[in-house]
Amino acid sequence: MNELSKVEAATDTTPEPVVIPVEAYISEDYARAERDKLWRNCWLQAGRVEDLPEVGSYITYEILDDSVLIVRVAEGEAANGAEGKIKAYRNVCTHRGRRLVDTPKGERNAHGRRNNFVCGFHAWTFEIDGSCSYIQSREDWGPKLCEDVTRLGEVQIDTWGGFVWINLDPEAEPLRAYLEPAATMLDPFQLQDMRPRWRKWTIFDCNWKVALEAFDETYHVPGTHPEFTEFGDFVGWGRQQGKHSHIGYDTGDGPKENASKLRLGAGDPRVTTAQMQKYTWEGVNTNTTQTLVDVAQRLPEELPEGTSATDVLKYWLETSRQIDAERGVIWPEVDAAHVAASGTAWQIFPNQQIGHAVNNMLCYQARPCGYDPDKCIFEVAVYELYPDGEAPETQWEYADPSAFPHVLLQDFSNMAAVQQGMKMGGYAGNIPNPKAEGAVISLHRNLARYMGTGEPQELG
Ligand code: FES
Ligand SMILES: [Fe+2]
Repeated sequence: MNELSKVEAATDTTPEPVVIPVEAYISEDYARAERDKLWRNCWLQAGRVEDLPEVGSYITYEILDDSVLIVRVAEGEAANGAEGKIKAYRNVCTHRGRRLVDTPKGERNAHGRRNNFVCGFHAWTFEIDGSCSYIQSREDWGPKLCEDVTRLGEVQIDTWGGFVWINLDPEAEPLRAYLEPAATMLDPFQLQDMRPRWRKWTIFDCNWKVALEAFDETYHVPGTHPEFTEFGDFVGWGRQQGKHSHIGYDTGDGPKENASKLRLGAGDPRVTTAQMQKYTWEGVNTNTTQTLVDVAQRLPEELPEGTSATDVLKYWLETSRQIDAERGVIWPEVDAAHVAASGTAWQIFPNQQIGHAVNNMLCYQARPCGYDPDKCIFEVAVYELYPDGEAPETQWEYADPSAFPHVLLQDFSNMAAVQQGMKMGGYAGNIPNPKAEGAVISLHRNLARYMGTGEPQELG
């Protein structure tokens, strides 16, 4: 088992203020070292189970020099409503090293369904179980060209939350152990039942950590999205949870579930929740659903002035739950205390955020785009629950950064500016808010364990 799995225990306390050196964001040597020290040692989220609906369905996943071919094969137990099981291979022909499945130009990854994979160079052919079934002039090699030599190399794979995860380290700890405590905290939300409403990817002129960190705190809301402060209060926390971290909102005297994603606005919650839901739906199309937006619009009429925040929240969620149930969308029952404790989103080390709720989720991922520390691939995927068989067919779509919803454009406007700012001579390092930006600190504490450098230093 990987020594790096032994991380410190979760903490709920606010850590001491620290300085994070900028090396992790801007150093070319650091970006190069990430391949062997980080990306080849972590469980990485490579796709969704529903992207592999039948035997022969495949997707690829790329991380720097490594490409993984993920295929549903016939062997094994039926699971997740689909026959067979999912396997992953090194996406390289064992003959002379041609990448076996190419990613079409302009696409995020290759995908489709095949009975086998034929190498484009000398036509060696690989079955979906990884075995090599055709070799031109095989007899020329004699008996030494055995199955062990020719079959595709296997990569560790597992599923959790409806996501497909790969790990390039053959000795990696099991996925479940790697994901804890996030997996246990998120299991009640049954993320595996959700399907994408939309998913887009783009390329930013910043390091992958800059992109991810723009979404793992709400401290930026008044500065980046000032219009949201008209109807909501966004003071929050970020806590390290082993390798991972989670974020949530302060709740003050309000309902504890207000720490989470499905939450009320400030002031008169009937009015501000209606405003906040409408603005979120139209401005960013994330974090909520049509049902929640529609019911929120009715709150000012259907509830008397002075209704307590607890009752407004209860009415909004219970009415929405019922309306959804009538159309065959069944939300999981999650204990209110658990909803509150789980917060709004989990950062899964190193490069994913899952913003969870009982009926929708918002996921961000960021990874390097080559070895240039100033570039990254950034992905946004928005999921919700659909009636059986009614989920839309979606694929990853490339979008220019300028083509995203306008609230995201506000976030995006900081990316390259942060990357450039950190390169300034004399810049002393980042000093995140120890409470509100604790997820940023957590990421760098854990990165330092893998990278052997970049440990946050005590401030002062
Ligand atoms: S490199 Fe694939 S068949 Fe030769
Ligand atoms: Fe934002």
